[in-house]
Amino acid sequence: MSKQSFTLTNNQTKQSYEYPILEGTRGPSVLDLRSFFKDSGLFTYDPGYTSTASCTSTVTFIDGAKGELRYRGVPIETLATEHSYMETCYLLLTGELPDKDTLQDFDLEIRHRAFLHEGLRHLFAAFPDNAHPMATLSAAVTALSTFYDDHKSCQDDAGYQEMARRIISKIPTIAAFSYRHSLGIPFIQPDIDLGFTKNFLTMMRAYPGGKMHLCATGHEEIKEVEVRALDTIFTLHADHEQNASTTVVRGVASTGAHPYVAISSGISALWGRAHGGANESVIAQLELIGSVDKVEAFIERAKDPDDDFRLMGFGHRVYKNFDPRAKILKGLQDELRVELNLNTELMAIARKIEEIALNDDYFISRNLYPNIDFYTGIILTALQIPKSMFTPIFVIGRTVGWITQWIEFKKDETSKIARPRQLYRGK
Ligand code: CMC
Repeated sequence: MSKQSFTLTNNQTKQSYEYPILEGTRGPSVLDLRSFFKDSGLFTYDPGYTSTASCTSTVTFIDGAKGELRYRGVPIETLATEHSYMETCYLLLTGELPDKDTLQDFDLEIRHRAFLHEGLRHLFAAFPDNAHPMATLSAAVTALSTFYDDHKSCQDDAGYQEMARRIISKIPTIAAFSYRHSLGIPFIQPDIDLGFTKNFLTMMRAYPGGKMHLCATGHEEIKEVEVRALDTIFTLHADHEQNASTTVVRGVASTGAHPYVAISSGISALWGRAHGGANESVIAQLELIGSVDKVEAFIERAKDPDDDFRLMGFGHRVYKNFDPRAKILKGLQDELRVELNLNTELMAIARKIEEIALNDDYFISRNLYPNIDFYTGIILTALQIPKSMFTPIFVIGRTVGWITQWIEFKKDETSKIARPRQLYRGK
């Protein structure tokens, strides 16, 4: 056995077991306990997987203490400021940033694949008015698997790429249709003349025929700063290693189900307010607070152990320092405030919460900083996107990460069906 090992001793039997320590390229080393049960007859206990590495990965790296995030080794700050979401998708899928020609081909392919099979359109009619777009989105992605049954058995790189590019392209269309169905307004088809992000905003906002709102000065065009802001939000959401929804996607992958069904399960997992649903809850909470003078009372509630009220958009399982995505978005929020001339009460309430919480011992001692969702809610509101679409926007950004992790799981020869054990304390 190598020197890099860890010995565990059972104090009842006095028996010792030695396990190898595995080294990563970054981050903490990992104790390889795969044979622990076979050796000792004991299980390890780790609810919420706070000390467990569930896989080997080369996709995303987070250092929560430093507040560092990298996709395929590239710092998130570089991607958010120097590259587009399309480039980020290509990077995640292939491991390399594309050159100019490769990017152009990739971008064109994504544009052309954005249309939905006409049969799928009918599915939306089955949902009641006001159906939450997340529920419709998850159902429609499961339904999408029925149109591409072959993807269940894809095994080579060409097959993986076609399957992945198809879902990345179609997710914004499904999300926009889910939203428009919830309002009972006609769908807007994708426009191949438009890039990924502008196309999505158009499918959300346009009138039939693809024209924007008409005002005294003509049609209100989508502003470049809005496209850039949303594109950055997509990039910041693109992957986040083994979070709750990605773990669900890998878990479904482990059973051999269709990849789009795994994505649909990821969408359901993301919806909860402890995860991606937090962005919608942040705005609901700011609206509940209502005015700057009420902020302090709500902060007191968040600190009260007998009150289950939590400050939405604060805290993170991994980041015990400022979430680097939140730092980028804070800058973007300030930029938008100037460029779109925004100074809303919601922004003022958010600023007050931030100011108090960042200086309060309760939050400081628990390392509770604003996370990505604290700022996305505010920025998306500034982009006139309704609350119910905040988490679907997270889905659009994250689909590339989920599908990349799905492919990685499939290619990994050590992958096994996800099947944890339990500490039984029943009758
Ligand atoms: N407001 C007030 N107190 C909090 C908050 C909060 N938002 N978050 C954590 N705490 C307290 C918690 O009560 C506990 O205190 P104590 O030690 O006195 O019992 C301590 O901080 C540790 O909390 P925890 O629940 O053990 O931490 P966790 O790592 O299990 O949970 C979290 C992480 C994100 C679920 C949690 O911080 C939370 O519920 N935050 C609000 C929801 C939110 O913003 N979620 C979005 C996460 S970022 C997007 C994503 O990647 O999904």
